Amino acid sequence: MAIRTFLPPLAPFLFATLVVGGLASKALHIGLHFRSLPFLYLVLYSPTLVLPDILIIVFVRLLLQFPAPESRLQWISTVLGGFLSLVTWGAASIQFGFFMQTGAEVAWAASNSFLSDPAAMKILLSGVSTVSAATTVLGLVAWLIHAHPYALTGAFLQGIRELGAGAVKARYSLLSVPSKTWWASIDLRSFRRVGLLTAAFISLVFLELSRPSIPYDHLSGALPLTLLEAFTKKTSTAEGCRDPAKTFPLWEVNNASPLAEGWSRASWLPQDPPPGFSRWDTDPLHRAEEDNPSHFLCNGGDEDAFFNPKSDPLKISNLGGDIYEPLQKAFKEHSVEINNIVLLTLESGRKEMFPMQQGTPMFDALLTSHAEGKRDQAIDRLVKMTPIAQMLTGEYVSGSNGTKVDLSDAKWQDPAEDGMGGLNVRGALTGSSLTFKSILGSHCGVHPLPVDLLEESMLEIYQPCLPQILELFNQVKSTNDIQGRSNSSASSDSSPALENQWKSVFMQSITDDYDRQDILDENMGFKHKVVKKTISSPRAKYRAKGDEINYFGYAETELKPYVRDLFYEAANNNTRVFLSHVTSTTHHPWSTPDDFKKEKYMGSVGTVNHDLMNNYLNAARFVDNWLGDIMNLLDETGIANSTLVVIVGDHGQAFGEDNKEMTGTYENGHISNFRVPLVFRHPHMPRIDITANATSLSIMPTILDMLVQSQSIDTRDSEIASAMLPEYQGQSLIRPFISSIKPNPNKDHDHDSKIERPDDIEKRAPHKHQPSKPKTRYVWNFGLINAGGSMISVTSASLPYRLILPLREGFEYVFTHLDKDPGELHPLKAWTLTQLLEEVLSKYDEDASEWLEEAEQVGKWWASNQRRIWGYREA
Ligand SMILES: *[C@@H]1O[C@H](CO)[C@@H](O)[C@H](O)[C@H]1NC(C)=O
Ligand SMILES: *[C@@H]1O[C@H](CO)[C@@H](O)[C@H](O)[C@H]1NC(C)=O
Ligand SMILES: *[C@@H]1O[C@H](CO)[C@@H](O)[C@H](O)[C@H]1NC(C)=O
Ligand SMILES: *[C@@H]1O[C@H](CO)[C@@H](O)[C@H](O)[C@H]1NC(C)=O
Repeated sequence: MAIRTFLPPLAPFLFATLVVGGLASKALHIGLHFRSLPFLYLVLYSPTLVLPDILIIVFVRLLLQFPAPESRLQWISTVLGGFLSLVTWGAASIQFGFFMQTGAEVAWAASNSFLSDPAAMKILLSGVSTVSAATTVLGLVAWLIHAHPYALTGAFLQGIRELGAGAVKARYSLLSVPSKTWWASIDLRSFRRVGLLTAAFISLVFLELSRPSIPYDHLSGALPLTLLEAFTKKTSTAEGCRDPAKTFPLWEVNNASPLAEGWSRASWLPQDPPPGFSRWDTDPLHRAEEDNPSHFLCNGGDEDAFFNPKSDPLKISNLGGDIYEPLQKAFKEHSVEINNIVLLTLESGRKEMFPMQQGTPMFDALLTSHAEGKRDQAIDRLVKMTPIAQMLTGEYVSGSNGTKVDLSDAKWQDPAEDGMGGLNVRGALTGSSLTFKSILGSHCGVHPLPVDLLEESMLEIYQPCLPQILELFNQVKSTNDIQGRSNSSASSDSSPALENQWKSVFMQSITDDYDRQDILDENMGFKHKVVKKTISSPRAKYRAKGDEINYFGYAETELKPYVRDLFYEAANNNTRVFLSHVTSTTHHPWSTPDDFKKEKYMGSVGTVNHDLMNNYLNAARFVDNWLGDIMNLLDETGIANSTLVVIVGDHGQAFGEDNKEMTGTYENGHISNFRVPLVFRHPHMPRIDITANATSLSIMPTILDMLVQSQSIDTRDSEIASAMLPEYQGQSLIRPFISSIKPNPNKDHDHDSKIERPDDIEKRAPHKHQPSKPKTRYVWNFGLINAGGSMISVTSASLPYRLILPLREGFEYVFTHLDKDPGELHPLKAWTLTQLLEEVLSKYDEDASEWLEEAEQVGKWWASNQRRIWGYREA
């Protein structure tokens, strides 16, 4: 009884939440893409965009038509209608909450992998306050207007019903009264209405059929139907036979000889190599198709099915180049000793903050948050933020009056002599704005897979990772089974220290449960790890003292005793250490431990909420301090002079100060998510500043090259490392970076004229038909945009252009010119390449649009080729 008296307002209210939630979500959806849509078309097709919403509204209104359900059928119908309304309300709230936090749209297709992941759920829950705010606002609006949508649609449906009845009656009377005044009997008003409705319906159908599917299909998606994506678009990974390579679009590729003919077993490969080396394993027993189908093509064929650097059209090697002279001298004098390697991955580590200095688009944006009169003060506070980074990079920065910042009270003092310290790279970009995809690049020298989340953890990584190479070094020392050992290389020529075993350890103070990261660490060859579980366990050697600082775990400083132990082990226990450590405080929501004194870096001018940036900057200073701790531990244990410290950002982090429209890394291609620091620090290597648009792919080859050139590994290991070096796609940064190859007019001309271009491109650019001039070959850099499968960024190392290339529906093409617009404040956006080409041609020039054409072709080819070399197929 009580329920019945409560129900009448409930059904209209629920219905109102459906209408409000559905339409608000549609408005947000269209609003997010508004700028890239031609206005006239938007107006023209707008009825088709809301059609699905209207159909859903009508459908649910029919379900909810019994304010006081009586029969079982009426109850079922009411409950179903209520359920759909609640789901729409909830989903719209999540969309708005997510949008308020990041400026991005929720991709429901990726959400099912999130829901099964506890750490990911915590990320979602961290946005719970904005989501509940959205829920409240939508609910309030629905409550305020609750009676109207219900009554209006009710009247509308009633009208249609009567019209229908009227039309039937008219036809009936038409048949039954065949008099000459038959038309007089038709109710003219309802006739006109039926006519109007029919006309409207026909034009809607016509519009629907004639509209371009991109982007309007995506834009017309309506809640709650779009939620079904979460259930239907399930992808799973299956390793199997591989597809043959697609023809490279830009130039002809020299096909390397297939493995069976050209290869003999590598002399350096032990009988049973550690994981990671299956590519070199020519043992027919190991290569049997049943055991290892990934080596074979799906339909036979004589091409190598796995990654082969010799037939990689994009590979440009600089190994023929001379080593930078000061480095070469240091190597010759045997003064560079690398017994240990520390690879520090800075979470959300932006280059602009490593060190924080004036003259970057970011710094300018930070300053505008301060009133004019207070800017000098702000500058002097900001430039003191990252003293350790200044010493590690050798980029000593100056304050408002132009004098260098005094670093004497920094936590660590650089003991290296003047002019020493190693390589500092300006211009480096990450390979992915998803942390562990980026780590694959820096630890294994591979490009990640352009699909959402860490599917790579289910597959064999297509290159050996650093821990696996070090394990191979260990293995050839502990066993005597290397082929040709007796005749090629004896080990007596090197110092006994080089015979020590390597130990690879992975450390982070946060969880490694997130998205199969633990599996990936193992696949990369880490046998030891210290993670949140280790330091929070009751049996922990050093139990975490502080509180958890974010939804992943603790502050990095909890690892200090573990790092110290490891460094002492390297110093005293005949062990060579490879430590990989990922920082965590600089992750959203940028909380720092309570005893860390926060500075006020941001002012309050402007419309953006500067608190987030302020927290981030403080977290960055916290991490700078922590780097000081690590450097002190190296000094304390006495291994600083024999340790190479590599520092790289996993990705950047876009804030409202960089780009008002979209923040964060998720589905956001903004350049501030990609510029990262890259440093190879060694106190006995001369300081060299390198300006190169390299990516983190260069880290593996650079480390191997350094180990060989500094003679920090014995002859046998050197043989292995030298053989491995050319296998990697990146360039070694101890030699000048090659960013493009000018055509050789005699040789390449032939090849170039054979390039086939798709018809549409020829139509767009008729001048391409003329004998084309030979093309410059660029070093193409690719960056996967978090979560991985929606978009990639494409750049060429020698040019300022940048393309965001969509890989699936619902994302736009974006072009920027980084010299003219280094902060990407004025991107050109379009839904189709043709449209973007026109815009680029009118705003920039023919060079830019020609590059764009190439970039799109290369990017598409690359994305499909990545799936092939990873052996990834969607099942
Ligand atoms: C510049 O400012 C620093 C403090 O930030 C101060 O120590 C120094 O004396 C100033 N130099 C000049 C030339 O004013
Ligand atoms: C020293 O190395 C040996 C083996 O190389 C190992 O068993 C031992 O645990 C190490 N000791 C310390 C303190 O790390
Ligand atoms: C490290 O090298 C420096 C020279 O650059 C030297 O002064 C110092 O004593 C060395 N430290 C150790 C622990 O060997
Ligand atoms: C690196 O890229 C920038 C654009 O971001 C460009 O201006 C610069 O010329 C490039 N540097 C080199 C060495 O090619």
